[in-house]
Amino acid sequence: MLFDSHAHYNDERFDGDRDEVLSSMTENNVGLIMNSCSSLDEVPLIFDICEKYPFVYASVGIHPHEVENLTENDMTKLMEYAKNPKVKAIGEIGLDYYYNFSPRETQKKWLERQVEIAKEIHMPVIIHDRDAHKDCMDILRDCSVREAGGVFHCYSGSVEMAREIIDWGMYIAFGGSLTFKNSVRPVEVAKYAPLDRILIETDCPYLTPVPHRGERNSSLYIHYVAERLAEIKGVTPREIEEATFENAKKCFNITEGEAAL
Ligand code: NI
Repeated sequence: MLFDSHAHYNDERFDGDRDEVLSSMTENNVGLIMNSCSSLDEVPLIFDICEKYPFVYASVGIHPHEVENLTENDMTKLMEYAKNPKVKAIGEIGLDYYYNFSPRETQKKWLERQVEIAKEIHMPVIIHDRDAHKDCMDILRDCSVREAGGVFHCYSGSVEMAREIIDWGMYIAFGGSLTFKNSVRPVEVAKYAPLDRILIETDCPYLTPVPHRGERNSSLYIHYVAERLAEIKGVTPREIEEATFENAKKCFNITEGEAAL
C-alpha cells in the first residue's frame, strides 16, 4: 500500500466529490494519508475527514502564508487541537520567500515558535521551504529541530542541504515535481537520499504529476511519484512503496494497530 505523506483534502477543490475520492483510496492501493493543515480555520473540516476515514491522519499548524496576524492565543488553540489522537505532526510550517504573503520577519518568528511547540509536545514537524533555504536551515539548526524530527515536504533544496537534514534524522519528501521534464535538482537529491529517509507525497490538489498535469491532483496519482522514484533509484516500484510506507509511519509515529488497514 502507498502512503501519501502530504495532502489537503479540506481544500475547496474537493467540495464536490470529497467522499467519492476518499472512498476509492483503499481499492486503489492507497493505504494511509497525512492531511496537512495550513491554518487553524481548516481544523474542524480536517477533523471531520479524519473521523470518517480511519486511514487519514492530520497535522495542525500555520503555513507561512497565513502567519501575519497570529497571536499567542492561536498557539494555545494549536496545542489544544494537537491533543486530538489523529494529529501526528505540527505543520505545515516554514518560510515562503517566493510569494512573501507574510513579512519575512513574521514568518521566521512563527516558524521558530511552532518548532518550539512541536518539541514541547513531542511531535514531528512538516516543513514548507520555498526559496528560503538558507534562513530556513539557520532557524531550524538554531532551534534544534532534530529534537522534534519530521519531514521537508516537496523538497527543493540541494544535495548538500539534504545531507544535513538526513543527519538530523529527518525525512525528505518527493512529489509531483519529480516527474516534470525540467526537474533536475530533485532528481539529483532522489539519487543521493538513502531509501530509508524518503517519503512520497502528492500535495493534492496541487502539483499534479505527469501525465496528468493540468488536472486536479489526488492521492490516486501518488503511484506516478513512486514509479519515477523507482526509475531514478534503480529499484522496483514495490520496493519504493514498502520503504516509503514504513518511513512515513516512523516519521509520524503511527503504530501498526492505529493504521486500520
Ligand atoms: Ni501542502
